[in-house]
Amino acid sequence: MVKTLSLIYRDQFRKLLDTAMFNKILVLGATGNVGYPLAQMLKNRNADFCIGIKPESELPESMKDIESVHVDYDDISTVQAALTNVENLFILIPDSPLMVDQMANINTAILDSSVARYVYISGAGVKIAPDTWLSQNLLRCEELLRSNDLPGTILRPTFFMQNFLNHYPPSDNQMHLPVGNGIVNYIDVNDVASAACEILIKDSIQKGVEVFHLTGKESFDMYEIAMLFSKKLKKHYEYIPISLEESKQVMTRNNLPDWLINMLQQIYKKVSENLYAFYSQDLQFLTGKEPRNFSMFIEKNRFSFE
Ligand SMILES: NC(=O)c1ccc[n+]([C@@H]2O[C@H](COP(=O)([O-])OP(=O)(O)OC[C@H]3O[C@@H](n4cnc5c(N)ncnc54)[C@H](OP(=O)(O)O)[C@@H]3O)[C@@H](O)[C@H]2O)c1
Repeated sequence: MVKTLSLIYRDQFRKLLDTAMFNKILVLGATGNVGYPLAQMLKNRNADFCIGIKPESELPESMKDIESVHVDYDDISTVQAALTNVENLFILIPDSPLMVDQMANINTAILDSSVARYVYISGAGVKIAPDTWLSQNLLRCEELLRSNDLPGTILRPTFFMQNFLNHYPPSDNQMHLPVGNGIVNYIDVNDVASAACEILIKDSIQKGVEVFHLTGKESFDMYEIAMLFSKKLKKHYEYIPISLEESKQVMTRNNLPDWLINMLQQIYKKVSENLYAFYSQDLQFLTGKEPRNFSMFIEKNRFSFE
């Protein structure tokens, strides 16, 4: 068979792609809870990487020396441009009604790119609380990625310890949450980032899609969390359980959008049913290290709490 000129060029291009050592990592969501420590870890490991940031994002000083590219998940052309010459892609999409459309944009861009492998941050709810709005959207994102037939890793963490910094910091030393006596194996975002870092810099060839559940080792209810805060910060902290209805009223007063109120209500209910209380050894398997514990998290962030 005589090859046409365009086929010969395509073959040569493929060979070039095969031999080119892209090895480059792109970290999406790099200014967020997980992305930020991940970028610092990759920097410390001298990895060949860049970060994708929203055009309007203000980079913290510690990130200004990292190569960056503008990415807006809602604008597929920016995602396509960012994926040029990227081999390993770290994907993180914040929870919102747009998340599946945003993943569809990322996935379309992947299909037309040099990306050979991805790591995606999903959530443990996909396995343990599959009937919530969030779990269903996370699952749809996972399924979109699986449809591209690339090797990839899906990390499903339980609740972040950092939610106590960002979402419900103790105010007046009190913690009001509608989770009853529900216990949770909280995980530190630094551990989630460590797991992602190890996978992204690993050289071995991966086949198929792997799923890992990332949890802390200890489980606590909110009374125990309040006791840990009291002990570490030498001040009295108190957990005051409230009803789902009361929490809805507070969130409505604070002008949270309806989708977010409904999402949180569903999650709080699952927490009160102890669904997020489970321990997985996946983190140790991936990093070779024990999970950080809650007391260490409070200690490390004591100035933010005091
Ligand atoms: N919180 C938990 O307890 C928990 C537990 C398990 C799983 N998860 C999952 O973890 C993920 C959230 O991770 P996170 O807490 O690290 O998120 P995050 O702190 O909210 O960070 C989101 C990142 O995405 C960037 N971003 C937002 N919109 C974008 C857009 N349109 N285009 C490009 N970049 C955009 C943000 O940039 P800016 O900073 O510039 O906005 C930020 O860097 C969610 O999928 C959630 O379901 C969370």
